[in-house]
Amino acid sequence: MNGQHSRRDFLKRSGAVGAGLTLAGLHGTVTAVDRSVDRSLKIGFVGVGRRGSNLLKILLELKGVEIRALCDIRQDRVTRAQRWVVEASQREPAGYSRGETDFKRMYEQEDLDLVMTATPWQWHVPVCVAALEAGKHAATEVPAAVTLDECWQLVEAAEKAGKQCTMLENYCYFRKAMVILNMIRQGVFGELLHCEGRSQENWIWENWHLFNSDGTMGWVAEHLAKRNGNLYPTHGFGPMAIWANVNRGDRLDHLVSMSSEGRALKLHAEKSFGKDHTLAQRTYNQGDANITLVRSVNGVTFTLYFGGQSPQPWSPEHKVQGTLGSCIGELFDYGPQRDGWIQVKLFEQKKEQATHGRWGSYWDYAQKYDHPLWKALGAAADKHRAKDWSGAYDYLMLYQLVNALRRGQKPPMDVYDAATWSAISELSERSVAQRSATLDFPDFTRGKWRNAAPTDLSLV
Ligand SMILES: NC(=O)c1ccc[n+]([C@@H]2O[C@H](COP(=O)([O-])OP(=O)(O)OC[C@H]3O[C@@H](n4cnc5c(N)ncnc54)[C@H](O)[C@@H]3O)[C@@H](O)[C@H]2O)c1
Repeated sequence: MNGQHSRRDFLKRSGAVGAGLTLAGLHGTVTAVDRSVDRSLKIGFVGVGRRGSNLLKILLELKGVEIRALCDIRQDRVTRAQRWVVEASQREPAGYSRGETDFKRMYEQEDLDLVMTATPWQWHVPVCVAALEAGKHAATEVPAAVTLDECWQLVEAAEKAGKQCTMLENYCYFRKAMVILNMIRQGVFGELLHCEGRSQENWIWENWHLFNSDGTMGWVAEHLAKRNGNLYPTHGFGPMAIWANVNRGDRLDHLVSMSSEGRALKLHAEKSFGKDHTLAQRTYNQGDANITLVRSVNGVTFTLYFGGQSPQPWSPEHKVQGTLGSCIGELFDYGPQRDGWIQVKLFEQKKEQATHGRWGSYWDYAQKYDHPLWKALGAAADKHRAKDWSGAYDYLMLYQLVNALRRGQKPPMDVYDAATWSAISELSERSVAQRSATLDFPDFTRGKWRNAAPTDLSLV
């Protein structure tokens, strides 16, 4: 941790196991976008690779969006994305591809409301901070930041500019995650005690920026080679943070983390390039399984799993445990595991004898507690599923972001969420490096968590 970070003292434990969770139900309806808001949102997009391309294509289908400028270090990607924008009947956006900091020239030259970025992790903060300093809102792919110092940079830049900085955490929009949110808000599980989350990415199977065919390392492998902790925490943690009102009546207090040995990447390199190749000879710090435990000041505990190098199916499994009931299962809404793989157990005095030890079906609750956002926009969202597995979630997320900013409102997830969820990365790395030492969370809200209203991901 450097000087900039140690400037700020972490809040000491408040000791107050306080406030309890908000159990009020969600709004029954989603107000359609205010038709009087016809001001369009002028967007500049930085990083139009795999993920950026998908997000851009959804943005082009949303009402009230103008893609004004595109930036990528690869000219061919800028040109390809410019073509998509023109094909969507918008005027050709300006292109910026003169090197790694050309986004700054874009900010100087373009009249933009929002800068959105889907660059590799290490560029999220430079791109967003420069955007905020130039007076634009910023939205970044996950994780928002790599280090604690970067988390603070985002918070300070957003506060100073008086602009929004949000993280594009699409897992919060899984339909099951939102059914569970609704059940929690309506008190079905009682008071929340514990959550578990994981996003076991299958990065080897996807070869997600691990090893390039020319025998060099991709940008994800560069992180895995040097670091060891939970490097990708927000998919697993985001839904849980919304459920548990983190930064909104509660805040994260401390964390411990532990990693297994890391063997899978070396094995993958051996299989891909042979035992004598430099990629097979070098060391990779990242453990193949990382487990992180977090406790909030109100006494809610969280378990978070990370690790996608060794063979296992991608499975965003989560658990909620409350005083009146629990649910467990995979949050993903589509695919072969869809049926029966999420289960609910509620404590019911009379039936308890008969159902003791058995899970009930999630589908008994799914309709009753379906989230208002999905009820209103689910059909439109589902159309995007055919193009990309996460298309439906991305659609809902971008819809909310675009319409909140068009109306001059705060998006549902703010810079404090981006900083807090991303901070798990460096904190877990430091804990792992110190034999699972207990580390305090910074309070990025500087006390504002006490009075902040819960976010229900509803448009109001
Ligand atoms: N939310 C999700 O479900 C999800 C899924 C995949 C990826 N992601 C996130 O999206 C981001 C991008 O991942 P990806 O798989 O698309 O990576 P990618 O490498 O395919 O795309 C990144 C793009 O950024 C460009 N780039 C790199 N440095 C740049 C710079 N300084 N300025 C401008 N452009 C630059 C690259 O040329 C490339 O086109 C990552 O943060 C990743 O974690 C999120």
